[in-house]
Amino acid sequence: MTDLKAKYLDLISGAGDESTLEALRVQALGKKGEISLQMRELGKMTPEERQTAGPALNALKDEINSALIAKKAALGDAALNARLQTEWLDVTLPTRYQRQGTIHPISQVTEEVTAIFADMGFAVAEGPQVESDWYNFDALNIPGHHPARAEMDTFYMSRAEGDDRPPAVLRTHTSPVQIRSMEASGAPTRIICPGRVYRADYDQTHTPMFHQIEGLAIDKDISMANLKWVLEEFVKAYFEVDHVDIRFRASHFPFTEPSAEVDIRCSWEGGTLKVGEGDDWLEILGSGMVHPKVLQAAGVDPTQWQGFAFGMGIDRIAMLKYGIPDLRAFFDSDLRWLRHYGFSALDVPTLRGGLSR
Ligand code: DAH
Repeated sequence: MTDLKAKYLDLISGAGDESTLEALRVQALGKKGEISLQMRELGKMTPEERQTAGPALNALKDEINSALIAKKAALGDAALNARLQTEWLDVTLPTRYQRQGTIHPISQVTEEVTAIFADMGFAVAEGPQVESDWYNFDALNIPGHHPARAEMDTFYMSRAEGDDRPPAVLRTHTSPVQIRSMEASGAPTRIICPGRVYRADYDQTHTPMFHQIEGLAIDKDISMANLKWVLEEFVKAYFEVDHVDIRFRASHFPFTEPSAEVDIRCSWEGGTLKVGEGDDWLEILGSGMVHPKVLQAAGVDPTQWQGFAFGMGIDRIAMLKYGIPDLRAFFDSDLRWLRHYGFSALDVPTLRGGLSR
C-alpha cells in the first residue's frame, strides 16, 4: 500500500496536463483501478485484517483524490498565468489617436454663423435649389430684361417638350428664400437661410456651386441702424474679436433700396488676416432695406412693414477665417486637405462653448 501511495503521488505531481491527470485517476480509482481492485479484496480478508486494511485503503483513496484535485487546480493556475504573461497590456501608454473623419469647413462655418444669428433670434429657413425664375428673379425685382440676369451666369434647366413655361434655374443666390419664407409666414419675421447656390464660373475664388447665407428681418420700424448693429455683433462673434469697424459703401441691388456693401477693417500684415485693426478694408456682404416691390411680391404690405436683408458668401468667410487660399480645394475631396482643414465632430460651435475651439 505504501508503494501504491508513493507511485501515484509521484505520477500526479509529474503530470503536465489535465488529460494525464484524468488518466491517472482512472488508473487508480476507476472501476477497474488498482485501488478499487484492492478494495474488492477486503471481502476475502478476515475481520481482523479488514479492520486495519479497510481504513488504510480509504485513507489512501482520499489522499490520492486530494492530490488529484490540488494538482488540477495548480495546472489551471499555471495555464492562467501563462495566458496573462502573453496578454498583458500597458495601460499607461498614450492612446493612438486616429481621427476617422472630419467636419468640412463649410459645415463648420454654417454651424458657427447659425449659432450666432440664432442667439439674436433668427430662425433658419430653407428653399429648393432648383428654383423657378419667378422666385429667383422676378419676385426679387429682377425683371426679364434686367442686366442682373445676364450677370449671374445662370444655369437653366431644360423643360419637357411642349412645356412652354419659362425654364427653371439652379438658384443663383439664397435671396429667393426671402420670398418663400414671407409667403409662408408673413411679417414680422427674422430668418437666415444658408444653402447651396450655382453660377457658371470657375477660378481661384469661384466654383460653379458655392454657399451663401441670406438674412431677413421685417417688422414695423426696422432700419439700417438695426442692420448695422446686427452685422457688427455678427462680425465680432464670427471672427472672435472684441472690436470691429464696419463701413457701409453705397451700392445697388434690385431687391433693396437703399443698398450697401459692407466692408470690415482689417490688416494683412505678415500675410495673415487680422480683423478689427489695420488700414485695409475687406468686403464681406451685400445688404440693404428690402425693396417695397419685393415685400409686395411676397404678399407683405409695404405700407405696414419694412426691414433689412443681407447676403453673404459662406465659402468666402470660411476662407478668410481659416486661411484657406483656394476655393476650388473645398470641393476636391482630397483627404489630406480634409484632415488639415477639417474640424472634430465633437466640437459643436456654440457661443458659450466657443465657436471654433
Ligand atoms: N443676392 C446677392 C448676391 O447673390 C447678395 C445680396 C445682396 C443679398 C444684398 C441680399 C441683399 O439680401 O440685400 O450677390
